[in-house]
Amino acid sequence: MFLIKTWRSVAFGLYGYKNFTKSGFMEHSKNFKPEDMQVQIEGKNCIVTGANSGIGYATAEGLASRGANVYMVCRNKERGEAALSEIQSATGNKNVFLEVCDISSISDVKSFASRFSSKDVPIHVLVNNAGLLENKRLITSEGYEMNFAVNVLGTYTLTQLMLPLLEKAAPDARVITVSSGGMYTVPLMEDLQFSGDKFDGVVQYARNKRVQVALTEKWADMYKDKGICFYSMHPGWAETPGVATSLPSFSKSLSGKLRTSEEGADTVIWLALQPKEKLVSGGFYFDRAEASKHLPFAGTKGSHAAIDSIDDTLKTLSGL
Ligand SMILES: NC(=O)c1ccc[n+]([C@@H]2O[C@H](COP(=O)([O-])OP(=O)(O)OC[C@H]3O[C@@H](n4cnc5c(N)ncnc54)[C@H](OP(=O)(O)O)[C@@H]3O)[C@@H](O)[C@H]2O)c1
Repeated sequence: MFLIKTWRSVAFGLYGYKNFTKSGFMEHSKNFKPEDMQVQIEGKNCIVTGANSGIGYATAEGLASRGANVYMVCRNKERGEAALSEIQSATGNKNVFLEVCDISSISDVKSFASRFSSKDVPIHVLVNNAGLLENKRLITSEGYEMNFAVNVLGTYTLTQLMLPLLEKAAPDARVITVSSGGMYTVPLMEDLQFSGDKFDGVVQYARNKRVQVALTEKWADMYKDKGICFYSMHPGWAETPGVATSLPSFSKSLSGKLRTSEEGADTVIWLALQPKEKLVSGGFYFDRAEASKHLPFAGTKGSHAAIDSIDDTLKTLSGL
């Protein structure tokens, strides 16, 4: 087990340094087709969680600049209002709205979903971007480990509760979940809240991000006949407020080599704009292409079989 863990970390570090940094983006962008992004989506309704900062902000701005109606879900009203007004003035799009919701709280997610559902608008794109890497074991007021509460349980609850509105936009509805390349370092595990003594936020975050990828596969299969498609993606390594706060040494050591938030958001926006026939529901994307969900010889492949049991646990915990 020690050897395989070491191999995963080494393989991730080497693969990441070559591909996830800014130079990786530059290299991959040689294959990008500019026309893929020259798409207007007026009239489409998009929800972006964690839209006041980093990749979520760049995603909301990118969608607003293409004419979409954008609902920015942010946990802090002041930060959300500031981002909203910046996006409105940068894009000239007044159909950008703020929804305040703390994704770490199931009750808050439920009250947001019920408020929002009363608008009865079809949702064409749900971007599950809100996420965090909390290094300490923090417990939410509802009793859940904080990384898990935001990255998995809140994201799961929101997605489930948005399904009726997504169905209204079918067959053009899609859910894009922003995972992380960090998930390559771990298999899918049923221990969702890191029960061991030596809490490691980086490992817990990676486990959460693996759950997102496996859940995306499960959702794609469950809702394949409903006209809703599901994609997970990873943005590479981008210089954002989240990375600076949670991974200060990583951020410093790769200073000047990290992607911008816009480069991190590029594949999210690309996934929102492409015709569905070009995409694979349940797929994991990176730099505008489907990517492997597993590193070679990492022994993580078989682990996705645990997703049914994890799905049952999430159903129970969310009370859905
Ligand atoms: N940057 C990277 O290199 C990288 C790499 C892999 C994956 N990702 C993923 O990309 C996504 C965006 O991260 P980022 O790097 O852009 O970090 P960021 O700048 O910290 O943005 C994260 C966003 O999520 C919000 N958020 C956090 N907890 C929330 C909660 N409980 N309720 C509602 N919103 C919440 C934050 O709000 P506040 O501003 O209020 O905190 C912020 O708007 C995350 O899912 C992250 O895991 C990033």
